[in-house]
Amino acid sequence: MRGRRAVSTSRLLQRWWCCRPPMAPSNSSSFLRGSAKQASGPSRAAGRSSTFHQNLKQEASNSQLNSRDFRSSEFATLRGTLSLNCRSFGSAATKFPRSPAFSRITSEDIYHFKEILGEKNVIQDEDRLSTANSDWMKKYRGSSQLLLAPGSTEEVSQILHYCDSRYLAVVPQGGNTGLVGGSVPVYDEVIVNMNRMDKIVSFDQISGILVCEAGCILENVGAFLANEGFIMPLDLGAKGSCQIGGNVSTNAGGLRFLRYGSLHGNILGLEVVLANGSVLDMLGTLRKDNTGYDLKHLFIGSEGTLGIVTKVSVLTPPQLASTNLALLACRDYFSCQKLLFEARRALGEIISAFEFMDCHSMEMVLKYLEGVRNPFSSSMYDFYVLIETTGSDEASDKSKLEAFLGRSMENGIIDDGVIAQDMSQTMSFWRMREGITEALVKAGAVYKYDLSIPVDKLYDIVEEMRSRLGHSAKVLGYGHLGDSNLHLNISTATYDEDIFAKIEPFVYEWTAKNKGSISAEHGLGLMKADKIYYSKTPEAVNLMASIKRLLDPKGILNPYKVLPPSLILPN
Ligand code: FAD
Ligand code: MLT
Ligand code: ZN
Repeated sequence: MRGRRAVSTSRLLQRWWCCRPPMAPSNSSSFLRGSAKQASGPSRAAGRSSTFHQNLKQEASNSQLNSRDFRSSEFATLRGTLSLNCRSFGSAATKFPRSPAFSRITSEDIYHFKEILGEKNVIQDEDRLSTANSDWMKKYRGSSQLLLAPGSTEEVSQILHYCDSRYLAVVPQGGNTGLVGGSVPVYDEVIVNMNRMDKIVSFDQISGILVCEAGCILENVGAFLANEGFIMPLDLGAKGSCQIGGNVSTNAGGLRFLRYGSLHGNILGLEVVLANGSVLDMLGTLRKDNTGYDLKHLFIGSEGTLGIVTKVSVLTPPQLASTNLALLACRDYFSCQKLLFEARRALGEIISAFEFMDCHSMEMVLKYLEGVRNPFSSSMYDFYVLIETTGSDEASDKSKLEAFLGRSMENGIIDDGVIAQDMSQTMSFWRMREGITEALVKAGAVYKYDLSIPVDKLYDIVEEMRSRLGHSAKVLGYGHLGDSNLHLNISTATYDEDIFAKIEPFVYEWTAKNKGSISAEHGLGLMKADKIYYSKTPEAVNLMASIKRLLDPKGILNPYKVLPPSLILPN
């Protein structure tokens, strides 16, 4: 019953809120006042909304692509259409040599794994290996000959114990939606895929504490929780495929970070199998526990280099009764900043997401995603912001948001805006923001950067990059503005060394100079293993390497990732 409550469209706002034309006529302020009054009666805005409404309904019935959820089937299609773009750009072959310390798989190894896992969970099938060897963006490709699919912690333990004894390198793999080449082999590492470990272990209705296996798909966990009247504190565009173990291992950020914070705060406990096969039980379900060093934090964000996460305990918040989503248009980046500043104050206790995208990002989704339409008819604005509120009082949340948007429009901070009126519109707005990643991959080659930068400077790098690259590339800026997290993406028809040379190391140097981080939420993976010094001191990196050597002395876990291999592996 509670699950149904979660998707109740009646809790979404029932009207459009809108709409000054892009080139505001001289009577714009009176129109604004008028529009505020027109709230519930028939109006110009209402007329416009119903047309758009119908379009959206049409789209929704035409295509599942309107869903906010990014489903595995879409991934499959995308993979199919992208094979021409596939190229191991940035592959380790050009970065780090294969470590001679690692053994190569023999038939005795295969025999042993079959003994542990049963024949069907020892996978050598070419098609499945081809998929597992290649990342979501088709940018990184390994050449593993073996995928293992354990069904329990005990099996993971036996696999790692054996691999460690045999010097076989391993890459842990969850949903394989990572964006930094961390989830695929670089050479012939054994892929340990967590798909089969997908059970909910327990859920406590009083505390909201969930314990589940690492291979649970984020969206499935969300569906389970919806039935209990709770939500995951984490949401991201890849939720139809990514796994909770992968989320923990990348310390994924996503769309709810603004409200619920980092997984370092929400993950209460972990079960992890270490490189030598020993099981580290830290699967606590307590919110407070100051007994010694809190070891689980080492594994959150360690990208499979310190252990394989097998179970997760997570604190989940209750599902609140009212959700509103507004898509707003701003004339410049400064207005987006101002909007954030004001929204934090005016909507403090109900704001749950503050996302932004520039017009190049919007153009990309309009061009490449089926069924996505411009909600502002044919008008384009320079910037778009999505503000989501989530609260417990429908009437008060709604009027608070409307009042805030009305004021922001009168102050000229926003130029136009719409509030989603039902689930279909909500999904459609989210699709625009969440679909940028997919649209970029459809457009061709993408150079992807995930930066933390103080908000006031966050868009400067997009503009600088644009002037560096001129017409040779499209430069997009979007991301989690509420968390100071910019996704800087450069889109070209094909990968090009000259363009790449203009992007790197400039992007890293600029970020370091401006006291940012070169990885806000995606991790370092293979892509940035040798770039860590831009964001961390040599002392910190050396300590990380010592921890890695302590937990994984032979370096078998996800080699060449996160830290410069020279600190860990013999050449
Ligand atoms: P994988 O991609 O399989 O693996 C990622 C890393 O974790 C690898 O290093 C892998 O070795 C390791 N790993 C996986 N499972 C385990 C395990 N059980 N134990 C130990 N190590 C493991 N990321 C964000 O932070 N925010 C976003 O908003 C966001 N949006 C995205 C949207 C799209 C469309 C896509 C394609 C990706 C997005 N990502 C985002 C990136 C990605 O989805 C996340 O990093 C996600 O957490 C990865 O989960 P996964 O299960 O797919 O892990
Ligand atoms: C997002 O916020 O959309 C994701 O992190 C993916 C991306 O950066 O493209
Ligand atoms: Zn993101």
